[in-house]
Amino acid sequence: MSAFQNKVIVITGGSSGIGKALANIALSQGARVAVCGRDRNKLSGQFPQAGEQLLCFQADVSKEQDCAAFVEAVVTKWGGIDVLVNNAGISMRALFEELDLKVLKELMDINFWGAVYVTKYALPSIRQRKGVIAGVSSIAGYRGLPCRTGYSASKFAMQGFLEALRTELLHTGTHVMWVCPGFIASNIRNVARGADGSAQKETPLDESKLMSAEECAGIIIKGIERRKRTIVMTGQGKLTVWMNKLFPSLSDKLVYNHFLKEPDSPLQHYK
Ligand SMILES: NC(=O)c1ccc[n+]([C@@H]2O[C@H](COP(=O)([O-])OP(=O)(O)OC[C@H]3O[C@@H](n4cnc5c(N)ncnc54)[C@H](OP(=O)(O)O)[C@@H]3O)[C@@H](O)[C@H]2O)c1
Repeated sequence: MSAFQNKVIVITGGSSGIGKALANIALSQGARVAVCGRDRNKLSGQFPQAGEQLLCFQADVSKEQDCAAFVEAVVTKWGGIDVLVNNAGISMRALFEELDLKVLKELMDINFWGAVYVTKYALPSIRQRKGVIAGVSSIAGYRGLPCRTGYSASKFAMQGFLEALRTELLHTGTHVMWVCPGFIASNIRNVARGADGSAQKETPLDESKLMSAEECAGIIIKGIERRKRTIVMTGQGKLTVWMNKLFPSLSDKLVYNHFLKEPDSPLQHYK
């Protein structure tokens, strides 16, 4: 029997990419799954076959009241929460000097505060069930990436928050972890914010060469089952984290050169 049979799993951002793939795997393993997104029709349209095992809830995680209502709906329907995956997130691509600060605030509101709000309301139930709180962070949470100041800040903040929380909960049986995917094929780069906050609408990467959201979600689900502390995915991701620890100033140059080569890299504006 799957470790997730009849467990209640809450996933923020289930309408696309990694969150949608996580929900599908959890459902296939017999879990009761609650997902949220900002558009109920778009969200429920992603799961045409799912029945009573799925709860689709319209919630914008940057709004505290939406997060409280989402958690309350899950607890009312199924009595409690075993696993929370803070997955909802957006990205950006712009030089900080050219960036409207409202973009950085939006990234913090969704990627950081969204995780804080849902965790705050879900924690009493998860602690009672000795469950798991997971955050979908990024390599950008270990290594600041150029043209992603707001994104990196939000992921560093999320990791600091989760590490502190893990330590607080050390003797409660509640597990706290985060996972750092490398580049994963999804919608994230299409909707990534540009300098003025509008979506960049196209990805600078060849998405067909990236790890799939399904493979990434499979790694996350196994990691949750085994209560891993952290998972850093992809060879490139592991190398980046390791290089940054051992050779930080060389890493600055390597990371700069990598992002300079992206099509239409904003770093070119300083050339
Ligand atoms: N793809 C990558 O290369 C990559 C790498 C490292 C980390 N990650 C992280 O993985 C997570 C998932 O990203 P993804 O790649 O799967 O991107 P995605 O395909 O764009 O999916 C993002 C999900 O987050 C939801 N979302 C965004 N803003 C929200 C808000 N304010 N309230 C509620 N839901 C919101 C979206 O739903 P709606 O738009 O329908 O609301 C969507 O379901 C993110 O935290 C991202 O930072 C991704």
